[in-house]
Amino acid sequence: MASVIAAIDQGTTSTRCMLFDHDGKVVAVGQKEHEQIFPRAGWVEHNAEEIWSNTREVVGQALGKGNVSSGDIAAVGITNQRETAVVWDRTTGKPVYNAIVWQDTRTDKIVRELGELGGGAERYKDRVGLPLATYFAGPKVKWILDNVDGARAKAEAGDLLMGTIETWLIWNMTGGVDGGLHITDVSNASRTMLMDLATLSWDQDIAAEMTIPVSMLPRIVSNSEVYGKARAQGLLAGVPIAGSLGDQQAATFGQVCFSKGMAKNTYGTGNFMLLNTGEEAVASKNGLLTTLCYQIGDRKPVYALEGSIAVTGSLVQWVRDNLRLIGGAAEIEAVAKSVDDNGGCYFVPAFSGLFAPHWRSDARGAIVGLTRYVNRGHLARAVLEATAFQTREVLEAMNADSGVDLTELRVDGGMIANELLMQFQADVLGVPVVRPKIAETTALGAAYAAGLAVGFWADEDELTAQWAEDKRWEPAMERAVADRYYRKWGKAVERTLNWVD
Ligand code: G3P
Repeated sequence: MASVIAAIDQGTTSTRCMLFDHDGKVVAVGQKEHEQIFPRAGWVEHNAEEIWSNTREVVGQALGKGNVSSGDIAAVGITNQRETAVVWDRTTGKPVYNAIVWQDTRTDKIVRELGELGGGAERYKDRVGLPLATYFAGPKVKWILDNVDGARAKAEAGDLLMGTIETWLIWNMTGGVDGGLHITDVSNASRTMLMDLATLSWDQDIAAEMTIPVSMLPRIVSNSEVYGKARAQGLLAGVPIAGSLGDQQAATFGQVCFSKGMAKNTYGTGNFMLLNTGEEAVASKNGLLTTLCYQIGDRKPVYALEGSIAVTGSLVQWVRDNLRLIGGAAEIEAVAKSVDDNGGCYFVPAFSGLFAPHWRSDARGAIVGLTRYVNRGHLARAVLEATAFQTREVLEAMNADSGVDLTELRVDGGMIANELLMQFQADVLGVPVVRPKIAETTALGAAYAAGLAVGFWADEDELTAQWAEDKRWEPAMERAVADRYYRKWGKAVERTLNWVD
């Protein structure tokens, strides 16, 4: 039996390939960052061809480091930044425009106009689980068709394909112009605003209203089944591609949140909390998304409630790159520790408007509470605290929607290395925050999905047995103090609203 499973994790800032052994341990990693393209205020793009080329490179790195050949790999799973949309020519394999990233707000007008057809932001919510917002992929595809010369005519002639990043990668990995598979998994499809959550098929009426030809849309598949074999020369040639999940759903899978009521929170460029709601798609009354959690083969789909926060880790990058407040991301903890509290300063990073639970695309970022007392340390603290406060907003919405209070929070992602943040998170939430031993949960989840499909792992029970606690932060702050901070945060959020006309 082949000895490892490969996972390709195509994230917002970088692409990684990780090899996992049967115990879920990391055998080797390849990683490369890609360019963040900001052509105008509010616009964020990636070069899809760069992403594909980096994918091949990181797979090569991982195989080299692990001294592994494709014959040693039982299957590969894909996981990806969600909602980021690519449109390409099926005859040349070339994208007609850069990928429009999930953080991009250019579809503001499109989503407003769709809402004006009736129903406002809730127009499609009962069918797709999502409010109309710039975040989702469908309107981004419409923007490309409306704005790129010749794109609409080509799309109508059947020459263009659309996809989120997993679709683009799988198409290329399985042959591209030479018969590549054009598929998307249910978790990624649930982020387009085009998939009916109950039937798991494209909603033709919504596609028509968004003027997206159905011929461009990929075939929807489950998260765990053999889709086909990789054919790209040198890249995992012959290895079954057997798992695909949006990165947040993958992290939920990697945290083995297989039972109803289990939740995880990932601290990446943004933060994403998902609560498994079992076979029921629960409609949110408190600003959360209803989304596909996962579907294993032809089994019934499992749904989730999700609280998506656009800017958390990327705020740390922003103060590093745009303000030069710190030299490297890891330095923020030391700078924040130089003071005892935020000095009255609050930083609301509404760079892409505000996502859950507010869904306000008219909001823009603000730093409030400034006095001459405030220094670099206070600012660094306010940056970290912004993540914790936004997480409390989402957790409160989860508790209200589900009617059950979460008693602890499983965490993962890059920012959980920050002890100050994790302690403050537990303090602000008033519940323990728990980090697992295998912290690479996103890639692990994709590996688990692929491994289940080929029998590398027997079932979810075997995976559940691999999860182990590494560290736990208990709330230590007085509740009254935490609540006072959080009330101030709420006032700061109000200052960011109604900024864009
Ligand atoms: O919905 C966006 C999310 O999938 C991005 O995740 O980890 O690439 O920031 P990440």
